[in-house]
Amino acid sequence: MTETKELVLEDFIRTGIISQSDRIKITEGAEIIRNGGLCAFPTETVYGLGGNALMREASRHIYEAKGRPSDNPLIVHIAELKDIEPLIAEMPQKARRLAESFWPGPMTMIFKKSELIPYETTGGLNTVAVRFPSHPVAMELIKTAGVPVAAPSANLSGRPSTTSGAHCREDLCGRVDAIIDGGSSEIGLESTIIDVTGDEPQLLRPGAVTREMLEAVLNEEVIEDTALKRPLSEGERPKAPGMKYRHYAPKAPMVLVTAKEKKDTGNISKKISELLEKKLRDEIDDKKAKAAVKIALLCSRECAEEMRGVLREDIDIKITGSRENTAEIAHNLFEYLREFDADGADYIIAEGYNEEELGFAIMNRLKKAAAWQIIYV
Ligand code: TXA
Ligand code: MG
Repeated sequence: MTETKELVLEDFIRTGIISQSDRIKITEGAEIIRNGGLCAFPTETVYGLGGNALMREASRHIYEAKGRPSDNPLIVHIAELKDIEPLIAEMPQKARRLAESFWPGPMTMIFKKSELIPYETTGGLNTVAVRFPSHPVAMELIKTAGVPVAAPSANLSGRPSTTSGAHCREDLCGRVDAIIDGGSSEIGLESTIIDVTGDEPQLLRPGAVTREMLEAVLNEEVIEDTALKRPLSEGERPKAPGMKYRHYAPKAPMVLVTAKEKKDTGNISKKISELLEKKLRDEIDDKKAKAAVKIALLCSRECAEEMRGVLREDIDIKITGSRENTAEIAHNLFEYLREFDADGADYIIAEGYNEEELGFAIMNRLKKAAAWQIIYV
């Protein structure tokens, strides 16, 4: 057990501006990282579990703290564009254009690594993932640490990523040296990952920098890794090793109900009602006493509205937001998946969304949380 120091940025949380007393706390976290310790910190996507990316031992400790397999490489965070130079073997032209358009921000690029980056940080790969986050606290922390900061999402392996200081405390207290609490992460989903080591950039993980945005800058179609399209068969390896794990997952089994085409969105609530009313209850009744079964529902305001009358009081409903506002849905998603664990849900039914733009990233996380149990209407 490590004693975990809680560094709460009270002024930043209240005002969005880093005060002098906040800065002292950030400096404390930065020193911990520079000296080989671990400190969780906020970014605009999700919280990161930071360590010195140039120290083998620090990377090993990150894997240990998360309970994460060590073949799953870490993202290296920088606070200025020029800081990338010593970390990578080359900067392809297309990567430069993407960096100019989307950094600082929620995008990670995969490069051929330089010798400076230890293999412990890259999970044994010859490539390195680099991100330049836009969150003011993350920037200040990395700058002050004076070293590139390796940071996976700050959750225990297999659990949904953390999007608040409270989530980090839940998962990491006693496992890391410090947690910087800077309030809730605005985007709520991890960064977009794009591999720029080949001639054709490839999307490995969708995020808030959408495929449509990448294509507009590159002026070409961006292909996606097969791991995004279907569950992998045994022994198959995705390009981003982390995408093979049952990630983002709440403890209870989850089924995702979604429409193949946007025009059929209205049928989702009908299908969910059907599941709630008979099929699901019958199935569960076989296994357990009815009273003990806690059914949870994760859906949009519109979907809940369409189902008024069907929804019984004992159903644990969480409203992700409006179907028309994917940013709101993304922001809330992991928080609610975590709450289902705390509520002790036995079975989760989730509404699916249209897969354009940010909807593609939301659906990627939902499909994985549901372990690809999908009902199409
Ligand atoms: O938004 C984010 O990206 C957050 C914040 C903290 O920056 N970080 C994050 O890290 O989500 P993590 O470790 O949870 O996810 C990193 C993903 C994993 O799926 C990993 O396999 C992939 O990036 N990755 C890292 N290095 C890679 C590499 N060299 N080649 C391919 N995939 C890589
Ligand atoms: Mg993660």
